[in-house]
Amino acid sequence: MKLLVTGGAGFIGSNFIHYWLSHHPTDRVVNFDVLTYAGHLESLQDIQHHPQYQFIQGDITNEEAVNAVMAQVDTVVHFAAESHVDRSIIDPQIFIKTNVVGTSVLLNAALKYKIKRFHHISTDEVFGHLGAHDAPFTEASNYRPRTPYAASKAAADMLVRSFFETYQLPVTITNCANNFGPFCDPEKLIPRFITNLIDNKKVPLMGQGENIRPWLYVKDHCRAIELVLERGIIGETYCVSGTEHTNHTVTLKILELLGKGESMIEYVGHRLGHDFRYALDSSKIQRLGWKPEHSFDEWIQKTVQWYQENEWWWRPLKQGRPVVDRVAQKNYF
Ligand code: NAD
Ligand code: DAU
Repeated sequence: MKLLVTGGAGFIGSNFIHYWLSHHPTDRVVNFDVLTYAGHLESLQDIQHHPQYQFIQGDITNEEAVNAVMAQVDTVVHFAAESHVDRSIIDPQIFIKTNVVGTSVLLNAALKYKIKRFHHISTDEVFGHLGAHDAPFTEASNYRPRTPYAASKAAADMLVRSFFETYQLPVTITNCANNFGPFCDPEKLIPRFITNLIDNKKVPLMGQGENIRPWLYVKDHCRAIELVLERGIIGETYCVSGTEHTNHTVTLKILELLGKGESMIEYVGHRLGHDFRYALDSSKIQRLGWKPEHSFDEWIQKTVQWYQENEWWWRPLKQGRPVVDRVAQKNYF
């Protein structure tokens, strides 16, 4: 297989490239990434000289660059995106450009070069949010995105589906829950809280921490993508779920693992339009043979340990970041 991974220098993309090269060492992997603030080649430094790996710095909205790389591959796994909800609240435009226009440029090129599979990485946020007792979303749930980020991902999903219906481009989509694990940028809840606490700084918990997210260890997501590439039905979508916890529970767990007390929590305002709860029904992908193999309790501990042991990776990312919390107008890095 000749694989084009877009956004391979990001959190999930870099974990996926590690996963793929260790499970499919004879496949060729081209990582196409423009290296925004969220792209970190350091995450891939151990495999930078791997004979089957190539990095190309390029923008998915640049048709010429995309066509040039598409001509070299037969399969696409499309991660590249603006991914942080708080940033989308402050500046939605780049989310439309990257997530919607970028996906359309890739789809056009995939059609032109007769790509055998275009796998699109999406999110549970396209479905909107749930009340505490609502049934989880399924592949048949309506799209009701509530943030500019979620709306841009929903639009991208629709484009992917349209290329299947209109042109029979062989596509698949996974809509996944919140991932955690190594190489996640410290702007996201779990790594932000771990790295703040390592530095003895307070952690900004929105509301009372009552919002609920389903958490999945990133390797389980990589395995889900592999399975859909191997056994997924063309044109189909698969929901990939995690274990639900309130943000408060996650925070208490991280505090405990780092030997800190609840006084390290600083309760801050909610983000605008804060989605209350996400939950997914994974029955469909389970029927393909997928199940999560990494428990939250065990792997959050290993994740905390990873951040303790890899300050070289995250410490530079905490410097000089702009204020991204619109409610508190405070720099929490
Ligand atoms: P990330 O922000 O860590 O990484 C995004 C990567 O895309 C970066 O390396 C960045 O440089 C690259 N990129 C951005 N714009 C680009 C462009 N114009 N051209 C080329 N590369 C570009 O994101 P992530 O958390 O790894 O998420 C990856 C994908 O998975 C996204 O599509 C996201 O919507 C989806 N997703 C994420 C989660 C999660 O919990 N993080 C859950 C479900 C789905
Ligand atoms: O559900 C999948 C999505 O998960 C992905 O599509 C997104 O790309 C990814 O960023 C993530 O979105 P969330 O908004 O759920 O993740 P985030 O880490 O930003 O926030 C998780 C929860 O924690 C949310 O309820 C907001 C809250 N939070 C977040 C941060 C960064 C805080 O209370 N304090 C914080 O500092």
